[in-house]
Amino acid sequence: MSAIVFDQVAKSFGPVRAVAGCSLEIADSSFLAILGPSGCGKTTLLRMLGGFLTPDAGRILIGGREVTHLPPFRRNLGFVFQSYALFPHLTIADNVAFGLRMRRLGAAEVAARVRKYLELVRLPGAEDRYPDQLSGGQQQRIALARALAIEPDVLLLDEPLSALDRKLREEMQAELKEIQAALGVTTLLVTHDQEEALTMADRIVVMSAGRVEQVGPPEEIYEAPRTRFVADFVGVSNFFEGAVVAGEPGLFRTSGGTTFRIAANGHAPEGGLVLRPERITVHRSRPAATPANLHPARIVRVLYQGQKTRVDLKLADLSLTAMVPNARRGAGLALNDEVFVEIDPEGFRSLAR
Ligand SMILES: Nc1ncnc2c1ncn2[C@@H]1O[C@H](COP(=O)(O)OP(=O)(O)OP(=O)(O)O)[C@@H](O)[C@H]1O
Ligand SMILES: [Mg+2]
Repeated sequence: MSAIVFDQVAKSFGPVRAVAGCSLEIADSSFLAILGPSGCGKTTLLRMLGGFLTPDAGRILIGGREVTHLPPFRRNLGFVFQSYALFPHLTIADNVAFGLRMRRLGAAEVAARVRKYLELVRLPGAEDRYPDQLSGGQQQRIALARALAIEPDVLLLDEPLSALDRKLREEMQAELKEIQAALGVTTLLVTHDQEEALTMADRIVVMSAGRVEQVGPPEEIYEAPRTRFVADFVGVSNFFEGAVVAGEPGLFRTSGGTTFRIAANGHAPEGGLVLRPERITVHRSRPAATPANLHPARIVRVLYQGQKTRVDLKLADLSLTAMVPNARRGAGLALNDEVFVEIDPEGFRSLAR
């Protein structure tokens, strides 16, 4: 049982409120990503869970046991950080064995675990090498093996892949996810990288200025951001200021006077609306059937991105961004083209103020 609870946890450094009254429940065996801009308190939150920092207020529980004031070595946690942090003067085997010897495990058990976890990170046979004889990606795998070898209740990962190039990072994301699922170890991953959070985590916490902005599964964070901050930080968004037309809950009028059909989803969009760019369809000529929202627009920028093309549009008083899949040969759209944009009424989401 290693569910984690943060209950009103706060930490300041002098005048800086690094974490401001954070409450969070993390299910046993789940994979949580902590996402947010630099300085929002991600590392501080992780360090309090690890026992390297004491909260000013609040409680932290691991597996139902309060650990708020326990030292790190009494928490049974595994860590991997951004910089490889392997001991350069120790062999790979001794690096992986480090935490095991600290725990006074017998030599046979140590050797067995070193073998097991080197195999798990797909580096069997690396025992006698030194860290500087390995690539960056291999070193991060050793750091992971070292963290896992103690068979921790919780694995804490602070930007463990950010020093790797994109291709290797994506491979390691898939591997790490598989290893986590196979072992069922409760995992917290801090990252700047929204794609990493979306692909790896069961749930994502988006933090801003020491507070939790939203917690939810990746699809929910992306498809239904609750606040403008989340919509802006995760993915590309179109925002609409305005209000619902009096007596017409399915009609939204922007402050510039453009109206859109919106799906009635129950709440008043007093904080405005957000629309993801892939919810906009760009037609090169007026379509035969008239959809719910069809507006003439002009293309003001085209950015080819491989799988898709980003198209920025001017629609009356609005600036919009659409993502057009390049299923065949590019989107066939050019700067200054006069086009029609179709917007799915279901694509609009209300934002909280
Ligand atoms: N030991 C410290 N002394 C003083 N201020 C600190 C200390 N550690 C963190 N802070 C401050 O607390 C805030 C949160 O820092 P934290 O390291 O948790 O951010 P972060 O979200 O991990 O950022 P990054 O993405 O850049 O790693 C920042 O304003 C930071 O400057
Ligand atoms: Mg950090």
